[in-house]
Order: sequence, then structure tokens, then C-alpha cells
Amino acid sequence: MGYPAVPPGSPTNLGRNGPRVKEASPNEAPELGAVDTMLKRGKMEWAIRVEGLTKAYRDLVAVDHISFQVREGELFGLLGPNGAGKTTTIRLLTGLLQPSAGRASVLGYQVPSEIVQVKKKIGVVPEQSNVYEELTVIENLLFMGRLYGVPRRKRRERAEELVETFRLAQRKKSPARSLSRGMRRALTVACALMHNPRLLFLDEPTAGLDVAAARALRDLIQGLHRQGVTVFLTTHYLEEADLLCERVAILVRGRIAASGSPAELKKATQGEPVIEVRLEKPVARFQNSLSLRLPGALTTAPNPGVLRIVGGDPAQALEALFSSARETGARIVAVNTLQPTLEEAFLKITGLSPTIMAKEKTR
Ligand SMILES: Nc1ncnc2c1ncn2[C@@H]1O[C@H](COP(=O)(O)OP(=O)(O)OP(=O)(O)O)[C@@H](O)[C@H]1O
Ligand SMILES: [Mg+2]
Repeated sequence: MGYPAVPPGSPTNLGRNGPRVKEASPNEAPELGAVDTMLKRGKMEWAIRVEGLTKAYRDLVAVDHISFQVREGELFGLLGPNGAGKTTTIRLLTGLLQPSAGRASVLGYQVPSEIVQVKKKIGVVPEQSNVYEELTVIENLLFMGRLYGVPRRKRRERAEELVETFRLAQRKKSPARSLSRGMRRALTVACALMHNPRLLFLDEPTAGLDVAAARALRDLIQGLHRQGVTVFLTTHYLEEADLLCERVAILVRGRIAASGSPAELKKATQGEPVIEVRLEKPVARFQNSLSLRLPGALTTAPNPGVLRIVGGDPAQALEALFSSARETGARIVAVNTLQPTLEEAFLKITGLSPTIMAKEKTR
């Protein structure tokens, strides 16, 4: 199938914004120790390096020998369905879990053994918002600043700045328990930024938010990225990864199935025509009939009454479409060819059904 694999240590530049750092050839790639020394001196290349990282719970391997790197300043997404191991990976990288095998470094320090040095330089937005319900918005921020050792006079200034940025100024004296889900998420992110971290971990930042709140939060994440903050986020929204991330790794059952820029991953389906067909109304048997006629192609149903055929011979696909329509009594109202989406790439790479990624989260 030939997806464009990015082997560990590969210095390919996959960013949308072009090269940020001069690249070495793979043979010149410095050893982990040397890179870490460079990082500590402030000459950044890799903000995160992970090699063979593994976490097992009894007989369940939640994270299974994963390896990847994230550049300083990069907006990196770990994409995967429920239970893929995304949260476990963040917990390993932020020192909350001991790995069963493998190693990782964050901003040049080994985790978890050197986590104390890392803590002050990173911000963490956990999967579930962790604000103090009884404290007001501003009190939550000031408290977080104190925890992170931000000097007293800076604390107030920074908290005021963040309530403005996160559009919480009107509610700054409200207790956190009275905030909407979107505001609470915004406050959680703001708290993680009180100490101006160089690297921000966000676990499913927009899960459970409405469209407007999710868009606002994505804008803020992009703003941080423009300021040079390294962002590591997890998501199960393919579109979110496509919109935001310069590079993604797709995690499936604890393993990295693919990594690269969204554009590169989409290339995994390049050359493969995508044909979309719209039916007058959904016909349950249509997809089944179609896939039986087209064993070499992938059929997906992104919406009721809409089917996509990825790959295979287009002439054969069209013939099959009309035969299936006759057989099942379906009425075709439109047939289009499409550019591959990240969803199709994901399907092709992982072999997982589209519904697995469509699962909504409410927390
Ligand atoms: N403390 C634990 N004990 C046992 N199994 C665990 C524990 N924590 C996580 N797991 C299992 O590890 C696997 C990965 O879980 P994880 O929470 O990392 O997935 P995720 O990708 O974050 O999923 P989601 O999208 O639902 O948040 C799951 O099968 C989960 O049940
Ligand atoms: Mg999770």
C-alpha cells in the first residue's frame, strides 16, 4: 500500500510552513544524548523524542513500542480512536506513568526520571478539565501561577492577560462550577499557560465542545503555535488533525499505524480515485451490493444516502454503481469524483471503519 512512512530519526520536513530548522541527513542525525545536550543549551531541534515506549497493564498493552519525534515549535497531533492509547502516551510523557519499556525525553530531559526539570517548562491540559470548582476564574489562574512559582506581581498580570485572550473577562469573578463546558475547557487551557510553557500537552482539547467553542479553542491553539510554543495534542477528530496539525501520528491499538503531515497521509490514497455517489434516499442494501461487486475497492458511507468508493478501476466502479442501483432499487441523484480526505487515508492505512472515529465524546 506504501504509505509514506517516517522512520524514527528521519529528518524529513513535513511542516506546512516549510522548513524551520536546518535538517541533517539521516546518517548525520545526532544520538539521543547529543540532541538532549543541545536542547538543554537552548538549541532546539526535538522537543519530544520517544523510542520504543511501552505501557502494559497486566495483559493489556495500552502503548506498544511507539517511536516518534516532535520538533520544537511544531504542532503535532496524536490521532486515534477510543482506547488507542493517546491518554496513556500523554501520561507517560508528563511523568504521571512509569513506562514498562522504552524511553522518552521531553525538552531534553528523560522522563519520568528527570520530570522535575521538565514540569516548569510544560503545560498540561488533561482529558478532563481539572479546575477548582469553588474558586473563581481568576483565583484558579492565580492559584495555578503560585503552584508553578510565577512571581506574585507577574501572576496578576498574566492572569488578567489570559482572561482577555480566552474571552473569560466577563466571568472572571464567577466560580468555575458556574461555567459552561466550553468556558471551563478554555479556563483549563489558560491555567496550563500561566507559567508560559514552551511545550503544551493537550488531551482531546475540543472533545464535547460545540462547533463555535471548538473553533475558538482551535484558533487559540494556532495562536500559541504562531508564538513558537510546541503543541502536542491528541484528538479523535480527523478533521481537527487535518486543520490544525503540521504532522500527525495515527495510533491504533497502542501502535503507530502511520505518521506524516496530513498532506502526506492523504497521498497514501493519491492516484486512487474517490467516487462519491448520492442516493435519493438511503438504501441499506446498496453498499453491500456495491462492495460485493468491487472487491478491490473500499466503500465507505460518510452520511446516510452518501457512499464513497476509494480505489479500484473507475470504469468498473461506475458499472457496479448502476448495477447495484438496479438490483436494490436505489435511485442515484449525483456521482462525483473527490480528492481524498484524511478520513480515507486513515481508513486505508488502518483498515478501521469510519464510524470508529466518528464516535462523539461528551466529557
Ligand atoms: N489504569 C489502567 N488500568 C488498566 N487499563 C488501562 C488503564 N488506563 C488505560 N487502560 C487501557 O489502556 C488502553 C488505552 O487507554 P487510553 O486511555 O490511553 O486510550 P485513549 O486513546 O486515550 O482513549 P480515549 O479516546 O477513549 O480517551 C485502553 O484499552 C484502556 O482501557
Ligand atoms: Mg484519552
